[in-house]
This record gives sequence, C-alpha cells and structure tokens, in this order.
Amino acid sequence: MPRALRAGSRAVLTAAHWQALRRQADPWVGRRLRDVIAADDARADAYSLRVGPIYASFARQCVDAAATEALFGLARDAGVPDALRRLFDGAQVNASEGRPALHTALRSGLGEGPAAIEARRLALAGRLGMDRLHASVLASGVTDVVNVGIGGSDLGPRLAVDALRDFHDGRLRVHFLSNLDGSAAQHLLRTLDPARTAALLVSKSFGTHETLLNGAILRDWMGGSERLYAVSANLDRTQAFGIASERVLPMWDWVGGRYSLWSAVGFALQLAIGREGFEQMLAGAARMDTHVLQAPIESNMAVWHALMSAWNRNALGHASHAVLPYDERLGLLPAYLQQLVMESLGKSVRIGGAPVLGATVPVLWGGAGTNVQHSFFQALHQGTDPVPADFIGVVRPAHGHAESHRALLANLLAQSQALANGADAADPQKGYPGDRPSSLFLLDELTPHSLGALLAMYEHSVYVQSVLWGINAFDQWGVELGKQIAGELLPALADPALQASDPVTRALLSEIRARG
Ligand code: F6P
Repeated sequence: MPRALRAGSRAVLTAAHWQALRRQADPWVGRRLRDVIAADDARADAYSLRVGPIYASFARQCVDAAATEALFGLARDAGVPDALRRLFDGAQVNASEGRPALHTALRSGLGEGPAAIEARRLALAGRLGMDRLHASVLASGVTDVVNVGIGGSDLGPRLAVDALRDFHDGRLRVHFLSNLDGSAAQHLLRTLDPARTAALLVSKSFGTHETLLNGAILRDWMGGSERLYAVSANLDRTQAFGIASERVLPMWDWVGGRYSLWSAVGFALQLAIGREGFEQMLAGAARMDTHVLQAPIESNMAVWHALMSAWNRNALGHASHAVLPYDERLGLLPAYLQQLVMESLGKSVRIGGAPVLGATVPVLWGGAGTNVQHSFFQALHQGTDPVPADFIGVVRPAHGHAESHRALLANLLAQSQALANGADAADPQKGYPGDRPSSLFLLDELTPHSLGALLAMYEHSVYVQSVLWGINAFDQWGVELGKQIAGELLPALADPALQASDPVTRALLSEIRARG
C-alpha cells in the first residue's frame, strides 16, 4: 500500500491508495462469483463473523484474499483503529463544528478522555431524568403519547418502537408525527383524545420548523401546554414554547441527531417497552461497541462492513446499495439507515475542505422481504446495474407460524444465493447474470439487545467509511440551503404582493397562486 499522509492527528489516504485498490478489482473482470464460492470450501467460514446475537456473512461479496488484504491495508493506512479510539475518547471528530461525537458514551463505559467521562456522567443523569419523567407520564393518566420530531428526532425511535412491537408493555400507545404536511397531523389527531394524550417534542435544536409547527398544532388541540414534554439541548427555546423545565429531558451538542436514539431522544421507546427493555437495547449497542473498539480490523464486523461498502463503491463502482430486512418488524430500517448513512457520508469534500479522492456514499434504499421480491427484485436480478445489498434475517420468530417463518428464511437464503450465483439459460431473457454482491446478517432473534447491536454496527461502519474517505460523518451542511430558501419564500406564499427572485420559482409561485 502507498504511504498515508498525516493531517494533524489523522492519517489521510492518497489518490495512489485508491488507484491501488481499483487495480485489485481487475482480476474480477470475467471472473464468476459462483466459481469463486464453489472452489473454496472454507470461504463461508472465512468470510463470516459472530458478535453476540449477530452472525454476519460477507462470503457473497466479490472479494478474494488479495482484495481483503488490500482493504485491511487501506484501513490500517487510514488509521482506523486509532480513529475508533479517538471517537470513543471524545476527540473532536466533528471538526467543522468543533465537537466530539460521543453517542458511545450514552451506552458503554469504554471512552477514556475527559470529554467521554463527562458525557457518561451526563448520560447517567439523563437516564435518571427519563425514569422520573416516565413515572410522571404514567401517573398523569394519559393513554397516548405523540413523539413530535423529524430526522434523527424521529427515525430512530420510530424504527425501534415499530421493530420492538413484541416488547411493548401496553401501558402507553406511542405515535409519531414528523412531516410538515398538515394532513399528517390531521389524520393522527382524528384517532386521539386530546384529554388523554401527551405530546413529546423532540428536537435537539428546538428550531426545526416541522417540529415547532406540529408542536403548536398539538398544543392548540390539547388546549395548552400542560401535557407537553420535550427533549432538547436548547432550554431557552423549550421554555419560550411554554414547556415547564421539569418536563424537559436533556440532549447535548456532543450527540448527533442521527446517532441519538440512545439518549432521551429514544424516550418514546422507553415509554413503549419500559425501562428494562431500553436498558437492554443500550446493552446490545455496548456489546457491539466493545467488539468494534477492541477487535482487530481483520475480525471486526463494522470494519468488514465498511470495507465491503468502500470496495463496492470505489473499486467496483456501484452507486447504489439496498437494505433488505427479511422481517416485517424491520421494515423501517432502510428509512432509518437512509439518514444515518446518507446524511453522514453524503459529502464531496474532506475534513479541511479538499475535494474527496473518489466517490463517497451510494444511494441507499430498500424494503422488507418478501414484499420487495414482488416489486423491485426484477431489477436487482436482471437490471443493467448490480446493486450490492445487505440482507438481514431473524432466526427465531416471535410468532407461532412456523411454516411462514421457514418460508421467509428460505426466501432470504434463496435471494442472496440467486443474486450471487445467477443461472444460465438458452433464452437470454430468462438468464440471471449473478455476480451481484451481498452481505447477510442473521440475528438470533429480534430483541432490544440484538436491535441495539445491529444499529451500533451500522453506526460504526458509517464512521469507519468516513475515516477511509477523510470526510466528517457528523455534520450536515448540505441541508441548510433549502431550509434557508424555504424561509425566504414563506412570506411570498402568504402575501401575493411579494415575489421570488428566481424566475422559475416565480413562475411556479404564480401557478400556485392562480390555482390556490
Ligand atoms: O435537517 C437535518 C437535521 O438537522 C438532522 O440532522 C436532524 O436529525 C433533524 O434535522 C432534526 O433536528 P432537530 O433535532 O434539531 O429538530
């Protein structure tokens, strides 16, 4: 491998590294994945790992020993073990905002720097606050709680509440309201009783337009702020909104929104599954943290996942990635990962501002099997562009329909095999090209613990990818411009005397005014 450069305390890969990696893909031209798999009895074991409740197989990735060695070399040259240590210890990994990213301190005791120690102290106090508020919500006699938030203040708790539906304790019903579209509020509120509903406004900044508008709709509908609760890092704004400070749970600038499920942002999950369940989810994430921080890169699940992503993106040139959970309860996982992965890695400049040296994040999408087999799988099997995929299955179901579960697992195994191996046919229209790479994760069962471990694995993979690419996984400047323009256009939608400066927007505005 070429020699890495150094930028401050970070190792930086060079263009020569990426060129060398691309050369590793040359032997794959004309090579069949099915032949590679068939020729090596040891491959299934050699390309798999287990961490706690999760077994991961990378055997159906288009990699061989030389490619994986090159990838490990890349990880070493990028300083991945050191970067992971820096993350856990509370180094300022979010350089553009001058902050650490200490989501790991919310669930594990691994970081050693002063920032990590202080974060753990605050996290513990935060957990006590969650317990106190949980008791107060239960004592208030409400039956329903609406989590009002968007992005990281919605997707994580929404996924976890949905995925862990078998663990709901039945004491409170939890709902989610995120979209600015008033029809979301209208349809939800129709199903609820204002006298028996509490609203939990979750917003790190408490400046997010969607959340403030929806929060105001709920406040009006409930006839006051008596049953309003909040999770935020901005106490001035929660107070200005009329939420008493004893009903506000803390958030901190050292936790990114899309990494915040483990904080009070996950309060809706605690309300749904109880304190013990929430603790188990944290413990599952901590189990993965320990593995990722301590395992060598060659046997590190998150590093493997990250390296396969970089291989597919940078060596094989695949521009999209599918997430395919074969479990109805994980149906929201692709939406959650879209924010985690694409908001974290959708960058074209490196830390410090230089352009990246190759492609970064692929488009991430997906859906739950087997439903998706009957929608977009045709394109996965026979489309012109191979789409690398993550399959996720659950070994032991939480229902008694054994035959359905066997069929679900058979489909999971079949699809990843068919994509990799393909099948020849005399009629080209009926042939399957194969060589479509995938990873497969098997959870022993879907529990708070295994979900926590799985999500932590993805978080760490994202971070490792950001280290390889030299980008900041913890900022999201790209979302600001649209928000700013929307703010400028808002008055023009209320006042016909006002005009937009952009000619196309002006024409569209006239059309809206003419028809509105
Ligand atoms: O617009 C993007 C974003 O800032 C996300 O990163 C964040 O998760 C979301 O908005 C919500 O932010 P907040 O929690 O401050 O309301």
